[in-house]
Amino acid sequence: MLTLREVHAYYGESHILHGMTLQVESGEVATLVGRNGVGKTTTLRTIMGIVRAQRGEVELDGVSLVGLPSDRIAKRGLGYVPEERGILSTLSVYENLTLPPVIGPSGWSVERIFDEFPILKERAKAAGTTLSGGEQQMLAIARVLRSGARTVLLDEPTEGLAPVIVERIGELIRAMKADGITVLLVEQNVRFATGVADRHFVIVHGQVAQTLANAEVIAREKELLDLLGV
Ligand SMILES: Nc1ncnc2c1ncn2[C@@H]1O[C@H](COP(=O)(O)OP(=O)(O)O)[C@@H](O)[C@H]1O
Ligand SMILES: [Mg+2]
Repeated sequence: MLTLREVHAYYGESHILHGMTLQVESGEVATLVGRNGVGKTTTLRTIMGIVRAQRGEVELDGVSLVGLPSDRIAKRGLGYVPEERGILSTLSVYENLTLPPVIGPSGWSVERIFDEFPILKERAKAAGTTLSGGEQQMLAIARVLRSGARTVLLDEPTEGLAPVIVERIGELIRAMKADGITVLLVEQNVRFATGVADRHFVIVHGQVAQTLANAEVIAREKELLDLLGV
């Protein structure tokens, strides 16, 4: 269970998160949706301790994460796949995959990952950045799954990817849910979001404006698309 309570965060003088309050239940898949610049990425970065929560609480299973360095937060079981994916060009696919320390017993084995993504096995020795954008996204997610993180934050995992890859990423998120992993993802593709998520937090100006069950989003898709400006 991941809880944010009245979180405020800044970049320098710019006040970005204005009392962000939300809770993602254990085993739930939830999304952050909202127009560009409302603070979705900043929310994930604040959970990970990359941006400091100046006020408010961030808790994982009731234990505060505020003030901990990012590597300690990761060791508590939080995995983060940033929008830019973070695949290192000087390392091979295999090295990228096995770079983060294993932090829990439930991490996916390399064998399971290679079964799930034959392309990563085929290209294991190639430089990570020779993979296509979609394959790099798979590698970035697989890397977090291998670490054994039980709560995973994904920032726009489908952005700019071909439909067939988007479909694969959807299957992967459903497999994560079936494994009991808690997922919080930023997603602009409403169709995709409703295919994988239980609930949606609509973010406006650094706050949760609405919390919607998936069925509500499906029923009100047009209204939401207007709200998101997409
Ligand atoms: N490193 C940064 N320094 C200063 N301002 C930033 C930085 N990153 C993002 N911002 C600003 O913070 C606001 C929220 O950004 P972000 O969380 O990335 O939005 P979203 O992910 O919802 O599109 C935007 O106005 C953006 O311009
Ligand atoms: Mg963003």
